[in-house]
Amino acid sequence: MDVKKVAVIGGGTMGNGIAHVFAMNDISVNLIETKQEFADKAVATIEKNLDRMVKKEKIDEAKKSATMDGISIFLDVEEGVKDVDLVVEAVPENFEIKKTVWEKVDKAAPDHAILGSNTSSISITKLAALTSRPEKFIGMHFFNPVPVMKLVEIVRGLQTDDETYEIVKEASEKLNKVPVPVNDAPGFVSNRVLMPMINEAIFCVGEGVATAEHVDEVMKLGMAHPMGPLRLADFIGLDVCLDILNVLYEGFKDPKYRPAPLLVKMVDAGKLGNKTGEGFYTYD
Ligand code: 3HC
Repeated sequence: MDVKKVAVIGGGTMGNGIAHVFAMNDISVNLIETKQEFADKAVATIEKNLDRMVKKEKIDEAKKSATMDGISIFLDVEEGVKDVDLVVEAVPENFEIKKTVWEKVDKAAPDHAILGSNTSSISITKLAALTSRPEKFIGMHFFNPVPVMKLVEIVRGLQTDDETYEIVKEASEKLNKVPVPVNDAPGFVSNRVLMPMINEAIFCVGEGVATAEHVDEVMKLGMAHPMGPLRLADFIGLDVCLDILNVLYEGFKDPKYRPAPLLVKMVDAGKLGNKTGEGFYTYD
């Protein structure tokens, strides 16, 4: 099956980036949000990121217009998924929210539709079991900023069939991304490797080993990371980092994944990183 039309559910940081890359690669997008103001914000972000690409001469104005025209807004999940080949869900990392969404999608999406979740750590097998078609359910894990990062981590649940995997692999290649298959396990591969590094960096700050700036400088200049782990934690969102560490901690029952006390305190204080204007750094 050729994926010609997708529904992207959620227009937040990840969702607007996912809608952007599908539409820019000539796959029509139904972008589904809960409120018009959130949809407007998502569209404005996509436009801003397309303008950035026009300025860098990566695309021209005609491509920008065609991309914007390829995105239709829906405020109703059932309406938005009824004629698509692929659904990509990018709603908050909360099982109850995802459950409500997937139950609606399962009722309304066509029989042939592939069901993909951009979850960063919730079990794909568990999400698939919310639907009547677990063989068509798969993880399609994108990375922030989606228009820039080349990886799509494709997560196969216990019941995901080979046809579903092949369709999603091909669709990812059409986006000029590199699909990498992994099996379902807490944190998959990406966050199982990334989050302990971020957590350890936070322990270093919390224990007074070095300042956030100095920890980041060590990793940038010594390990050639584009961003230090604490700047990256702010960029991802400290609440998201904490949620993922808790999934690893509970999933493996291994103390090596215990969240750093400083991370817990910062989340409790509402210092969530870029999105709240303050985390390990301050932002305008
Ligand atoms: N849309 C389109 N283009 C964008 C963009 C966006 N949202 N954000 C950045 N860009 C482009 C810029 O235009 C620029 O293009 P150029 O190479 O043609 O000049 C390029 O990306 C680099 O951007 P900048 O020059 O503004 O800044 P930097 O060189 O500092 O790069 C960065 C910014 C790409 C974010 C880089 O710092 C980086 O790669 N950081 C690491 C990001 C990362 O690790 N992401 C994964 C997070 S984990 C995740 O998402 C999974 C989840 O489950 C937690």
